[in-house]
Amino acid sequence: MRREQWKSQLGFLLAAIGSAIGLGNIWRFSYMAYDNGGGAFLIPYLAALLTAGIPLLILEFAVGHERIGSAPLAYAKIKKNWEWLGWWAVTFVMFGIVLYYTVVIAWCLNFFVLSFNLGWGNDPDSYFFKDFLSVSKAPFEVGQIRGPIFAALAVIWFLNWVVLYRGVQKGIELANKIFMPLLFFLTAVLVFWSLTLDGAMDGVRAYLTPDFSKLSNPKVWIDAYSQIFFTLSLGFGIMIAYASYLPEKSNISRNAILTGFINSGYSLFAGLGVFSVLGFMATSHGKPISEVVSQSIGLAFVAYPKAVSLIPSGNLFGAIFFLCLVMAGLSSSISIIEAFTASMVDKFGLRRKLFITAVSILGFLGSIIFTTQAGLLWLDIVDHFLTHYGLVMVGISECILVGWFFRLKVLRNHINRISSLKLGIWWDILIKYFIPLVLGIILFGDLYNELSKPYGGYSWTSLILIGADWVLLTLIAAFVIASRPWKTEHRKAGGRTHG
Ligand code: ALA
Repeated sequence: MRREQWKSQLGFLLAAIGSAIGLGNIWRFSYMAYDNGGGAFLIPYLAALLTAGIPLLILEFAVGHERIGSAPLAYAKIKKNWEWLGWWAVTFVMFGIVLYYTVVIAWCLNFFVLSFNLGWGNDPDSYFFKDFLSVSKAPFEVGQIRGPIFAALAVIWFLNWVVLYRGVQKGIELANKIFMPLLFFLTAVLVFWSLTLDGAMDGVRAYLTPDFSKLSNPKVWIDAYSQIFFTLSLGFGIMIAYASYLPEKSNISRNAILTGFINSGYSLFAGLGVFSVLGFMATSHGKPISEVVSQSIGLAFVAYPKAVSLIPSGNLFGAIFFLCLVMAGLSSSISIIEAFTASMVDKFGLRRKLFITAVSILGFLGSIIFTTQAGLLWLDIVDHFLTHYGLVMVGISECILVGWFFRLKVLRNHINRISSLKLGIWWDILIKYFIPLVLGIILFGDLYNELSKPYGGYSWTSLILIGADWVLLTLIAAFVIASRPWKTEHRKAGGRTHG
């Protein structure tokens, strides 16, 4: 069967940007920037983008394009017994990250509807944690499924299914061609609206005023590198699959640079809006900014609703904000499901439409645990383990595999032959030495913290049974799938430049 292709380079670029810009860009970045020295955070953040983010994105694009395959196929074509690495990445994102990611998009959909009549009432804090999530005391006190979240989740999975069922061009490409311009437009409306609010400038000042003293703290650098990793969807197997649908003539390095800069530019821009709103809140309540800033989830589902209730015509503001989150989230969840689907189709020659239907149903069922009263706790634990260990380990392994077991120069020549920006030896050095070293430091830093005190105050039992097991079981699944024989001829074919 002929491999599907993007209709245009722009279609590919928008899909890659759609995958990169996700739930994390809107509030996780803003909070992180504020917490890690405001304007000064831009230094490690940009350093991480230039020294790890873009070089690794070029690598993932090039691997998918040159080897013409999803992550497991591309890695198997590089070295037969490394196929598991591709499976691990696509398995833990499909049966881990996307399961809770879709639930957070479902919350956004619920809040989009609530915005119209400010349905969170006078106390958004208590509404979110008590009425909406009804969070239980411990992860194993699962309690009941929350009806409205369950219903919104069904809608989100249905939307994922519709887009993916229509295929690469008519589904993913078309959806991103609609979502991305709309997302940029609506975000611009929100940011400019926010900047007109009373106290907005205090917020912007808090956001951008540099505190250089923080730069000596290693945590700031670790946060910057992890943020870049997650936000560019690196280690997910997505960018490899997306690049495998590119035609022979494709400007790999330019596309990677554009994706990297547009994604980070979006975060910076959205941050202006987020902080203007916080400045407005602080002014309205006569409190300092530091008292109204709350961490990731609290920022979107507690602080924003509070602000929305105070802003004139705030319900429209709230609706646009949550709609932006839904669109940003969907374009990322679609890309995750596609990374797994492409892998299964490549290996087992499955019928795409049938498989998409099956995996969407399975994904929906798997997500249900995160709609229960213990959902938030499970989400927190699984997210911590998969993003801190899964993604980072995949990142290190792919640098080692491609940098050390593959002639990196072959890949660089391939990129240089078709791209406008030519890569020098510096790229090899970053891939072979620098990035694995930095990621290795992050990994050990995380492990050290992990062992010194249980994450988030959870019991060791729940951290091991839920978090560590999730990492381990997906790894075992990856080895099992990798050990199955190939049902297609793809594996035997070489890459675009050599066998
Ligand atoms: N890159 C996606 C995000 O930032 C996964 O949410």
